[in-house]
Amino acid sequence: MPHLHISEFKEIKFPAQEGGVSFNFIADNINHEEEKLISVTVEDDVFFLLVKEEENRSLLKTDKLTRPASIYNVHKALLAYAKLAELKIISSNVPEHQKNVHLEEVSALKKIEYFASNFQIDKEIRVEVGFGSGRHLLHQAANNPDIMFIGIEIHRPSIEQVLKQITIQNLNNLLVLDYDARLFMELIPSNIVGKIYVHFPVPWDKKPHRRVISTSFIKEANRVLKVGGKLELRTDSENYYAYSYETFISFNKTTLHINKNKDIAISSKYEDRWKKMEKNIYDITMINEEESELLSLDGDFSFFDVKLSSDDILKLDKNIAKFDGGFIHFERSYRLNDGVMLRISIGSFDRPEHLYLIVKGNEAKYFPSLPLKSKSNLLAHEYLNGILHG
Ligand SMILES: C[S@@+](CC[C@H](N)C(=O)[O-])C[C@H]1O[C@@H](n2cnc3c(N)ncnc32)[C@H](O)[C@@H]1O
Repeated sequence: MPHLHISEFKEIKFPAQEGGVSFNFIADNINHEEEKLISVTVEDDVFFLLVKEEENRSLLKTDKLTRPASIYNVHKALLAYAKLAELKIISSNVPEHQKNVHLEEVSALKKIEYFASNFQIDKEIRVEVGFGSGRHLLHQAANNPDIMFIGIEIHRPSIEQVLKQITIQNLNNLLVLDYDARLFMELIPSNIVGKIYVHFPVPWDKKPHRRVISTSFIKEANRVLKVGGKLELRTDSENYYAYSYETFISFNKTTLHINKNKDIAISSKYEDRWKKMEKNIYDITMINEEESELLSLDGDFSFFDVKLSSDDILKLDKNIAKFDGGFIHFERSYRLNDGVMLRISIGSFDRPEHLYLIVKGNEAKYFPSLPLKSKSNLLAHEYLNGILHG
């Protein structure tokens, strides 16, 4: 993660601009006065820089929760703030001039909103969940130019590696998403995907709620797959295979194909590793045979008049409200010049969404963008609206 170690943090006067970067406002953590968030806009990216003040030196880095699409924009923001506030930099991992052309110029990297808002493509779609080194995904995209591939991964270095390859190989049928694939599946339209590859997912033996394969994932997979579309799971873990088999077979009218040690066109990095160790590799392929209903998500994320006072809003700090279908956790609270800000996680327990809520007078808004329109987020919003309205 890009960061600057500085001798002492200095606050500028907000709003301010420097070198194409806008600094909008600052938020002070009410429980940790050494922690502040600076709101930044660079081109279309809106995110926070995080300040951690320590006795002899302070840290300025990107806030994980609002991380922007382009690392280059974070570099730009860090350097611009340092210049504007005349900070003394002790050490840094931010390149002063060099820019990451691959990340900045590649349009293959999409934000989740791109897929969530009326996503339509005039080609067959195939999705790879957790592409890792990208060997399988890149091979598929290069060999099937008429199919649009979507690669989903949460490990940033893997994403950057694949983006570089997309540029080098000049591929225009591969989109990449830095997001939890389980939530992605809840948001895209029904009956549009030809294949979903889940190759060597993390088995999460001790934290099964983090597994990609689950009842809700299979339900969504059946919904988004076209008739005849396939979900292909490949795993070296006998445990994960057994768990997945049980989960798949609990669905009615399911067609499954099971294979052991089947060779496929391209062996992934993990597969090579397991083959060298002479481990067995298990395959489950699920074929969807039914047309699904269209995705319908009613509701929006607007707020009624906020009736709760700022002080009462800050008292929500650290509370967790649970309700049928989800929860809201009020994780951190901040004071703004002209209001308050809360960091919240909302939605379903196994796939929560983290974001900020800004309240000024009787107006509330999510920051930096609206939650994704999933069933559990809409429920959480309804609940939150009720709390704020009093
Ligand atoms: C064991 S690696 C396998 C990588 C690749 N498929 C292969 O066969 O070499 C699993 C990958 O899934 C990614 N992953 C785990 N959970 C995920 C999720 N919920 N959404 C997207 N990617 C995920 C991890 O970051 C990791 O890169």
